[in-house]
Amino acid sequence: MTERLDKFLANAGFGTRTEVKKIIKQKRVKIDGEISKNGDIKIDPEQQIISVDEKPVSTQKQEYLLLHKPAGYVTATRDNLEKTVMDLIDSPIKDRLFPVGRLDKDTEGLLLITDDGPLAHRLLSPKKHVPKTYYAKVSGCMEENCCAQFREGMDIGDEKPTLPAELEIVSTHPEENYSEIRLTIHEGRFHQVKRMCQAVGHEVLYLKRIAFGSLILDESLSKGSYRRLSQQEIENLTK
Ligand code: URA
Repeated sequence: MTERLDKFLANAGFGTRTEVKKIIKQKRVKIDGEISKNGDIKIDPEQQIISVDEKPVSTQKQEYLLLHKPAGYVTATRDNLEKTVMDLIDSPIKDRLFPVGRLDKDTEGLLLITDDGPLAHRLLSPKKHVPKTYYAKVSGCMEENCCAQFREGMDIGDEKPTLPAELEIVSTHPEENYSEIRLTIHEGRFHQVKRMCQAVGHEVLYLKRIAFGSLILDESLSKGSYRRLSQQEIENLTK
């Protein structure tokens, strides 16, 4: 079935018709390898390959869910013993969906669930350095000099030191002997936040991811619930 190129791209998540027109004008859209300068043109997505920035546009509508993961669930599609994050999702295409990256069983917060393999691949690529921000409660009173250590990268027992990370000490509580911190890392190593804090002598007591790339966990999303990403959020993620 034929449809207008601009409508097709808008439906595929490339923004409003006006935004799509801009992308076309910027010569970023190709039909079967040829730049198209005309949004009114009729195309047949089943017969032709439409690409934006050299990436083919999928005709299959994809799903993007933002889950507020509670503690107690493992990040996996299935597990013989434990509850998985997928147990929290009710979708007719659940079999195709998977979590992007991993949060530990006791970690809460933002987890992206999708069926978009290429996007997941890009977001998790070690070359992309996609930022991930965590809020944590750690044992003891963190001192400001930790910020420099995190910024310089540190040895946490891996082959290479960590990439520079941004640490903000939100508050310290000497009477109760804990600190609240915000930490942005640009990798996704196993237990990375816990191991980085451990390396400067602080144990993570509570961990929650509050941002992943351009996505931010909305406080109104209760633990265990999820929502679809907005068109704008999908676009920002896939940029
Ligand atoms: N770092 C950790 O230590 N645990 C997580 O779940 C995520 C990042």
